[in-house]
Amino acid sequence: MNKILKVYLEKEYIGELIEKDGQRLRFVYDLDAKSDISLRMPRSTQTHYHKATYAFFENLLPEGNILELIARGKGVSQNNPFSLLSVIGEDCAGAIHLHQYVPLIPEKLPEYISKTELNQIISGKNNARFIYQKGNRFSLAGARDKTTVMIKDDKFYAPNFFYPSTHIIKFDNHHFANILHNELFCTLLANSLGLSTSKMELITENDVPYLLIERFDRAKNPNEIRRLHQEDFCQLLSVSSKNKYQKEGGPCFRSVIKTINEFSYRVASDTLMIAKILVFNVLIGNCDYHGKNLSLLHTTRSLTPFYDLVSTVIYEHISTNMAMSINKKYEVNDINKQDITNEFNKWGINGERMFALIINDFKHIVKYAQALSKETIFTSKQATIFKIIEFIERQFIRLQ
Ligand SMILES: Nc1ncnc2c1ncn2[C@@H]1O[C@H](COP(=O)(O)OP(=O)(O)OP(=O)(O)O)[C@@H](O)[C@H]1O
Ligand SMILES: [Mg+2]
Repeated sequence: MNKILKVYLEKEYIGELIEKDGQRLRFVYDLDAKSDISLRMPRSTQTHYHKATYAFFENLLPEGNILELIARGKGVSQNNPFSLLSVIGEDCAGAIHLHQYVPLIPEKLPEYISKTELNQIISGKNNARFIYQKGNRFSLAGARDKTTVMIKDDKFYAPNFFYPSTHIIKFDNHHFANILHNELFCTLLANSLGLSTSKMELITENDVPYLLIERFDRAKNPNEIRRLHQEDFCQLLSVSSKNKYQKEGGPCFRSVIKTINEFSYRVASDTLMIAKILVFNVLIGNCDYHGKNLSLLHTTRSLTPFYDLVSTVIYEHISTNMAMSINKKYEVNDINKQDITNEFNKWGINGERMFALIINDFKHIVKYAQALSKETIFTSKQATIFKIIEFIERQFIRLQ
């Protein structure tokens, strides 16, 4: 038996996701479709079969504990992307969304999240679960506890088909001390070095912090918010999120660069940006930088701003192996100048010259990090911030 979900790109009906006999997935474009859901699955009258279809749609789903909670709460199997998307596919990364029926235009704004509810969500355990219990139907990739919201006139709402989310909220996690401050610090530091990043604000309510992140895949006009399409490099390379680490068959830097050469309209600047984020991640010790932490925006056909920048090395229970190898090396404490230069050479660029250029651009990284650490938002978290700075200092000297 076949089951069908209707697939939209923003407001455009684009085709059908078909589950055949409870197992294999297929995607068929509508004959009038004018856009591609994935650069890897271009418009065609031919059916797109399981491998690419499964990878593209499965990568829209959350991972880990959140997925387990959602699956249990909605009464579907956590290993069945089709069932999951039929219950939480109304607002995803990029412009894609899925429905069982043709949606009817709503008469009112989506469900309002009151200040009290927001505080409950922020201070609770398994915060994302609360929002899903309210019957909401949105999906965002990633393993960390987070949710998406639509903010309008400073009020928070749960997004749906007609009302896209505008922000992501990331919650605190006691297993990783001050992780939100860590992410904000690394993001602002990347920004001070000229890297384009997600815009975010750290807000504290009743002593509980949360990170409010503006979505870069939304266009905000005065009267309307529109979804812009993006896809991550696991989708672009047809790799399931379950294999997102290179060691498990996930994207490596060379395949990212190859994909940029294949699809980007800004090959030179995107290649430079990948080279810079590689060096930045080695310097801050961001070992969890896998293929889902890089995306292409369809509208510009170029990299999105960088996101998920966290110094993971300061947490002793997280592996210090990088998610993507550099010159076949994974251990962040062993990667040296020659490795980075060799890795760049393998991309077909002049490694020596690229490395020299980036190290020169980053020469004030320690000074910038120290200046940033003095900002009020970080002064109460000095132990965490100093650990990050110490690591950067050590790595920077080692890379000379
Ligand atoms: N500012 C943003 N605008 C739009 N989409 C975003 C933004 N930041 C992240 N995303 C999307 O949301 C997904 C999850 O974000 P992020 O990687 O920050 O979460 P995470 O749970 O920390 O991930 P991980 O499991 O890698 O730790 C990304 O893969 C990306 O598709
Ligand atoms: Mg991520």
